[in-house]
Amino acid sequence: MSSLSQHPSPPSTLVPSGKRLLFLGATGYIGSQILFTASHDPDYHALYTALQNYTIVALVRDPESDKAKKLQVLWPGIVVIKGGLDDLDVIKEEAGKADIVINSAVSDHEGAINAILSGLQGQNQGSPGTQPPLYLHVTGLAITSDNCRGEDIPHRRENWASDVGFNYAHWPETNMHWKADRLVLAAGAASEPGRRIRTVLAYPGMVYGVGEGVTKECTLYRILARMSKSTGIAGTWGPGCNRYTVVHVKDVGTAICQILAKVFEGTAKVGNEGLYFICDDEAEPAVMKEIAKGVGKILHARGLISDPEHKPFPNEVVQPFGEVYWSMIAGNVQAIPERLKADGWVPTETRKVPVMASLPEELNLVLQGL
Ligand SMILES: NC(=O)c1ccc[n+]([C@@H]2O[C@H](COP(=O)([O-])OP(=O)(O)OC[C@H]3O[C@@H](n4cnc5c(N)ncnc54)[C@H](OP(=O)(O)O)[C@@H]3O)[C@@H](O)[C@H]2O)c1
Repeated sequence: MSSLSQHPSPPSTLVPSGKRLLFLGATGYIGSQILFTASHDPDYHALYTALQNYTIVALVRDPESDKAKKLQVLWPGIVVIKGGLDDLDVIKEEAGKADIVINSAVSDHEGAINAILSGLQGQNQGSPGTQPPLYLHVTGLAITSDNCRGEDIPHRRENWASDVGFNYAHWPETNMHWKADRLVLAAGAASEPGRRIRTVLAYPGMVYGVGEGVTKECTLYRILARMSKSTGIAGTWGPGCNRYTVVHVKDVGTAICQILAKVFEGTAKVGNEGLYFICDDEAEPAVMKEIAKGVGKILHARGLISDPEHKPFPNEVVQPFGEVYWSMIAGNVQAIPERLKADGWVPTETRKVPVMASLPEELNLVLQGL
């Protein structure tokens, strides 16, 4: 990525022309990074220019929140509307008016996904030659979990999943994202005239790094730090020997901007082939117990826990999170982003700032908010 500089304001001839992009999760760690990269990275200037023809409409739970205000600074002209993922009528109505929907809110909220799909499918798609609307759904690589429950089970590279030829029939239905992703895939495969949607599924691995958008703190560390502080345990689900393919949040931004740029060029894969893993298969994976040890050391040094040693969380702590968390957080999740690599994407930031080297700075940031 070349050096960062904010794009100048768009010329007045490029003010929104009636096209709409609905964004769920725009204030989040991933969502706001996408908007930051699109508006600041010169490599995506053409994408930024194309997006200036769109009114971006962000669904946020609290339009008066600090996050919503920062979002309006990050993307001047963004329209913030109040709504949560259970406001299905609002989501369906807004999706019904949108040319593009990006959902990086909660990947497995099936109600919101169905409302988006129903809104998009209900659009008048009658005029010949018009492209069907696009739905970009941010899911996650936990779909490829081997469910080893934190045990030290070798996960050889020949068993790693790839997005090219990826087949849900080969993965347990109980894995996180399985049901929700299949809703999106089914809609992308539907071919009845007037109901077609172009779908893209984006699958980040474990995302880390200080973000540049509205939410700068790593989501996993936000969860672990809070749990460790409240239980006094630098814990993992099970023994924590499982390995996770990682990706720096800035590289998630460039990956999704590259996919969107290809959508505008008309060269992105969509439907059954529109599956994009986002991770660095060449980087050292995160080992969950090493992450827990890093968290424990920092919380202990701050006097927030008395024992810095890593231990499995007791059952009563992890049980309320349900089985899906075991698949998400305690499996080996290692995969190959063949599609992005074939398109020339390189996770430069992941290689510059490895996951364990980045952890102390990130934890300090997370702890400021606890
Ligand atoms: N971070 C990772 O390591 C990672 C890896 C793989 C997949 N993913 C998936 O990517 C998605 C985004 O992750 P993230 O790390 O960006 O999470 P995040 O920082 O927590 O952001 C979530 C966003 O969704 C919004 N949101 C959450 N619940 C909502 C609700 N009930 N109604 C309306 N908006 C709601 C939040 O908005 P407000 O709080 O402002 O209302 C926020 O903008 C998640 O589905 C996650 O499973 C994340």
